[in-house]
Amino acid sequence: MSKTLIPKITKAVFPVGGMGTRFLPATKAIPKEMLPVVDKPLIQYAVEEAYAAGIRQMIFVTGRHKRSIEDHFDTAYELEAELEGAHKQSLLDVVRSIKPEDMDCIFVRQPRALGLGHAVLCAENLVGNEPFAVLLADDLMVGSPPVLKQMIQSFSTAPGTVLAVQDVPREHTSRYGIVSVNNDQRSYAAVDAIVEKPAPQDAPSTLGVAGRYILSPSIFQSIRAQPRGVGGEIQLTDGIAGLIGHEPVYSLRYAGTRYDCGSKEGFLQATIDLALANPELAETVKSHMRAVLGL
Ligand code: UTP
Repeated sequence: MSKTLIPKITKAVFPVGGMGTRFLPATKAIPKEMLPVVDKPLIQYAVEEAYAAGIRQMIFVTGRHKRSIEDHFDTAYELEAELEGAHKQSLLDVVRSIKPEDMDCIFVRQPRALGLGHAVLCAENLVGNEPFAVLLADDLMVGSPPVLKQMIQSFSTAPGTVLAVQDVPREHTSRYGIVSVNNDQRSYAAVDAIVEKPAPQDAPSTLGVAGRYILSPSIFQSIRAQPRGVGGEIQLTDGIAGLIGHEPVYSLRYAGTRYDCGSKEGFLQATIDLALANPELAETVKSHMRAVLGL
């Protein structure tokens, strides 16, 4: 009997065209994905996660202010020459590691911020007819193995569209896409329904979608077929809802922590936790916190 060939996920799409209004004024002239947590911009954490999952083609869907993201993943000859001349090898390694040689970065423009679904549509010609990953860099995910890798591992057991989910407090359902699944006991379960930002009393469950997806290429047609969704935006959630019943859609309860770095609270929590996890900073941060809290 011939074994079904599981497609390999080779491309990751990073929608970075949002307005980032919750983080104004910081995001007036730079995209929120360039805000640094400790010493790396959010977008670099997401690209590293995709790279660790074996992906080498990174597609950025940019909006206004795309320059800083392009520059971050471009070669910085002057800076490298300066560090080389000053024999600062470890810093040179840090700069060069941002874009490993076997990684390609491609940029495409989202002309107007019409919603996440629209941003994904902007990558259609670059993605082609294969399943692909989408990572929202403002969701900083800490997991071991990295969350996207966990998703690809599940995908390889049963391919389809895969949504990373976590349990959220019922009073927060209106911040998420919420899914209902056919078997709540399984970490990798078939999705029956998905709704965008339901009020707590209308939410079909408390399983909230985090900013990591593996999408079937049928998503493009499905997004196009939907009317404008919540807030007048072209919603990715509506496109995913259109796949349910026609193609397998799964949710994976991932192991790890998600920081919503599009919000000030989540961004500060990520900064504290990652500083405490950094051996060079942990002691200084702890003693500062003890002093501030009078402990
Ligand atoms: P958000 O819902 O966080 O919206 O987008 P936003 O505009 O970036 O931020 P706020 O709410 O105004 O503070 C979720 C993700 O979708 C991307 C964002 O960059 C973010 O990664 N996005 C959103 C786009 O790329 N284009 C869009 O038109 C909308």
